[in-house]
Amino acid sequence: MTILVTGGAGFIGSNFVLDWLAQSDETVVNLDALTYAGNLRNLAALQGDTRHVFVHGNIGDRPLLDSLFATHSPRAVLHFAAESHVDRSIHGPGAFIKTNVEGTFTLLEAARAHWSALDATARAAFRFHHVSTDEVYGSLAPGAPAFTETHPYEPNSPYSASKAASDHLVRAWHHTYGLPVLTTNCSNNYGPYHFPEKLIPLMIVNALAGKPLPVYGDGQQIRDWLYVGDHCSAIRAVLASGRVGEVYNIGGWNEQANIDIVRTVCALLDELRPDPAGPYSRLVTYVADRPGHDRRYAIDARKIERELGWRPAETFASGIRKTVQWYLAHADWVAQVQSGGYRDWVATNYNAR
Ligand code: NAD
Ligand code: TYD
Repeated sequence: MTILVTGGAGFIGSNFVLDWLAQSDETVVNLDALTYAGNLRNLAALQGDTRHVFVHGNIGDRPLLDSLFATHSPRAVLHFAAESHVDRSIHGPGAFIKTNVEGTFTLLEAARAHWSALDATARAAFRFHHVSTDEVYGSLAPGAPAFTETHPYEPNSPYSASKAASDHLVRAWHHTYGLPVLTTNCSNNYGPYHFPEKLIPLMIVNALAGKPLPVYGDGQQIRDWLYVGDHCSAIRAVLASGRVGEVYNIGGWNEQANIDIVRTVCALLDELRPDPAGPYSRLVTYVADRPGHDRRYAIDARKIERELGWRPAETFASGIRKTVQWYLAHADWVAQVQSGGYRDWVATNYNAR
């Protein structure tokens, strides 16, 4: 048996592949374009492991997809590949439409062609699992109930709009063609291998370098943070037992304002790697807000708990400590991802703020 993972060299995808192969001998075919966010170093532990077949390629490449389906006949597709950073989507939305919308369309069509030709048993067992985000639901007012699976779609950024479009395509491929799809909409993840353009790893690496910690606007925007390993276990649960055609929200029951996240990271670094120059919180710098910045996200994760018995295993306190410790122990990984294009991005996003 084989699964096809797209985007398995990125943050969540690589955590998923590592977790999967730690628990199962089922082969993973890992298709990744190795954009700036894809990093084979994340998968170094799998070198020489025949259960992991890495394919350098694009989800928009239909002939490649057809040959992968024909060669490996995966029983499921786990679709992580995406452009994933809101700030980059503001500076350059085109890549988001290309990969998240057109790429998902091409992948759906290739999966449909493969699935249609299967025998009845294999067709019934096949799954297309689309990994999506809570950002498709838009922004919550303070005190408003958390997002359920039936919350209206109100995406506000080019990123969330492109993910919303991909969710709609996946839904339509089920309703129109009967493709056995599953969709999960998850809140903000954090953990090992998180690219340091996102809030938590950016704060860790900037603090360690003695650089400013750029907090957008008033820092009171709220996100619902989930440890990446818990996202992976939720995806495995949905793939194994989720009802076809259903959507499952995944979240950490952990709403926090950005400034509180930054303070927690600073306090952990003060404990684990004290800086003689003083507490890391001295580096907090309020900068111009993100245009169209969503104020609050929160996930109501009762459906996945009720139907599949899934709940996060990590608390935020345990998960963030593990995460900070991981970054302290992996300075080489940080140095490698900060080379080249990373510097250009930092200049593009922060110099004019
Ligand atoms: P990431 O940016 O770290 O990784 C994306 C991966 O996809 C990279 O390895 C990249 O090389 C690959 N990729 C990009 N375009 C590709 C293409 N056209 N063809 C093949 N591969 C391509 O992203 P992530 O944070 O790991 O997110 C993974 C998925 O989870 C995304 O679909 C994202 O929308 C979703 N998600 C992320 C979060 C989060 O907090 N990071 C939360 C909820 C949902
Ligand atoms: P991010 O990690 O980019 O995730 P998302 O925008 O998908 O939620 O950002 C998380 C929050 O942190 C978001 O409200 C924007 C904020 N933020 C900052 O305040 N400063 C920064 O330098 C970054 C990258 C994000």
